[in-house]
Amino acid sequence: MRVVRTVEQLREAVGFMRGAGQGPVGLVPTMGYLHDGHASLLRRAGEMCGTVVMSIFVNPIQFGPNEDFEAYPRDERRDLELAEREGADIVFIPAVEEMYPREIRSKIVVSSLTTRLCGASRPGHFDGVTTVVAKLFNMVQPDYAYFGLKDAQQVAVLRQMVDDLNMNVKIVPCPIVREADGLALSSRNVYLSAEERLQALVLSRSLREAHSAVEEGRAATTDEVRELLKSTISSSPLADIDYAEILTFPQLEPLEGNFPLVETDGEIIMALAVRFGRTRLIDNMIFTPKEVAALV
Ligand code: PAJ
Repeated sequence: MRVVRTVEQLREAVGFMRGAGQGPVGLVPTMGYLHDGHASLLRRAGEMCGTVVMSIFVNPIQFGPNEDFEAYPRDERRDLELAEREGADIVFIPAVEEMYPREIRSKIVVSSLTTRLCGASRPGHFDGVTTVVAKLFNMVQPDYAYFGLKDAQQVAVLRQMVDDLNMNVKIVPCPIVREADGLALSSRNVYLSAEERLQALVLSRSLREAHSAVEEGRAATTDEVRELLKSTISSSPLADIDYAEILTFPQLEPLEGNFPLVETDGEIIMALAVRFGRTRLIDNMIFTPKEVAALV
């Protein structure tokens, strides 16, 4: 595994692998503090690609002024061990000055998809994400790029960017990896106190319960499912709901409140963002109501 810190070294390392005819190049962009969710992306990339590039960069321009950029957890040594174990061939760890040597004046803005959910709670966040991912795509020119559905809106936004701008890369969405008790893995889980960690289980539990309610016909409309999500989450006293939404996926368009979900064509997403103390956690479930209800 090669560790590179400059764009020049990165291009040289990827060029060498490509020249050696190693097959497709896969890119796994991350902000580090790696866990099994990140590892699952590396493994998927390894199955499909001859060369796997991972980037580790806490991207300042996707954090708001009152967010946790400074406090974001970092552990380079542990990250490199995980990357090596999970089959990364090249790891790119640039300093902020390498990615942004001067004030950045060109940004990629995806409209409409970024106005809801995390886009509404975190103004400018997705502009920072699309801009850094576009930079990484230009540096690596990967055939495939791997992203987790834990951040489903991020996947929808990046797909739109790639389609709109004819970028020559295929986005591969990968399933959410969870702890045995249901909590979605996240680098931010380390911020949680023991009590918050326990109460945070309400995120995945509320999604599972809402899904069963649709399956069994106990909740039929968007309003009913949203209410069910909110009442389950509110049963945890430490939970402070940022949003609990039901939208079409990947268009992220709202559905009428009294619209029967089984009549939607295609997939919907139940998306949650909930604060526990100072930690904001997200989770979601994507499914096709027509198929789920048809099983009963
Ligand atoms: P980060 O939060 O480090 O996540 C890197 C990738 O890992 C993302 O695609 C994310 O969806 C995926 N991931 C995180 N937790 C996961 C889990 N429990 N299961 C499956 N996949 C998971 O997302 C970012 O970084 C940044 O926005 C980035 C795309 C790197 C741009 O800066």
